[in-house]
Amino acid sequence: MRVLSGTKPTGDSLHLGNYFGALRQFVALQAEHEEALYFIADYHSMTTVRDPKLRRRYTLNVALDYLAAGLDPEKAILFRQSDIPEVCELTWLLTSVTPMGMLERAHAYKAATDRGENVDHGLFTYPVLMAADILLYHADLVPVGQDQKQHIEMTRDMAQRFNHAYDCEALVIPEPYIMKDSATVLGTDGQKMSKSYGNTIPMFAGKNQIKKAVMGIVTDSNPVEEPKDPDATVFQLWNLFAEPEERRAMAERARAGGLGYGEVKKDLLERVLDFFSEMRQRREHFESRPEEVEAILCQGAEKARAMAAPVLDGCRLAAGLGS
Ligand code: TYM
Repeated sequence: MRVLSGTKPTGDSLHLGNYFGALRQFVALQAEHEEALYFIADYHSMTTVRDPKLRRRYTLNVALDYLAAGLDPEKAILFRQSDIPEVCELTWLLTSVTPMGMLERAHAYKAATDRGENVDHGLFTYPVLMAADILLYHADLVPVGQDQKQHIEMTRDMAQRFNHAYDCEALVIPEPYIMKDSATVLGTDGQKMSKSYGNTIPMFAGKNQIKKAVMGIVTDSNPVEEPKDPDATVFQLWNLFAEPEERRAMAERARAGGLGYGEVKKDLLERVLDFFSEMRQRREHFESRPEEVEAILCQGAEKARAMAAPVLDGCRLAAGLGS
């Protein structure tokens, strides 16, 4: 079983949505499966990040977050997407079996056009590049959050279309792996947690920044003595750091009234800081050794490239390309 996933480098720290929706599963799956590949999707970041220095910085930060969270280069192949240019060739091969209508239905593209944005071709083709990321390594299982499910469905569709068009089995059809309890982590404003909504709680940032985010979680104005909705955003976020028994007790307290949101937020802040403190130390360790991180990514790229080459060759052969 080959596991693969990626993360777009768009900031200085990944957030709780990335962690509970995806990264936590990356770590668990690297131990359960023989082969796991996790990459930093720097080509994908080109649809939003236009500053090369920032892209490098964000890319390094995702690598640090991966290592901090417990991804182990001995168990998983960690690499930078752009170190494997073969992915661009496979993207082209896939574009020719991808209907326009499929891409026009992609959530990110639709949302951007609905907002009246001037959409570039990179955003339109984003799902094809993502399909190539997955198919290039014959991945079987792709751990992601709910927001990426449509992309995995498109990936399956593209793989089937390619295999069918060239009457071959050059591409493996992957399965998504989505955890029910954290499929969509809410942001501080109650929408999906996302960098682009500015509603994130970072895994790693200064204590004050994390405090500001947690204290900023939007709540209703019910007074302390009133009963509270145990499904409110603040409780959903708190639940991520609590055991099932604690969750039940908290829900009861919420329903009973007499519980202030401020108390829940303070406790949540402590739990966030505590939960990530060991990872923070590991992150600091690697942060002071950027050459070591670079070496890990380069070794990862070498291994990933060796896996990609025969898959791409198989596709080229099937399609009658090259000599
Ligand atoms: P990205 O970088 O936006 O997010 C990385 C992972 O975090 C998950 N995630 C969430 N899960 C639950 N709740 C949230 N609020 C939340 N926000 C983010 C995402 O679902 C994702 O699993 N297109 C991808 C990167 C990518 C990729 C790939 C992933 C490129 N190629 C190939 C898998 C396989 C993206 O932008 O994820």
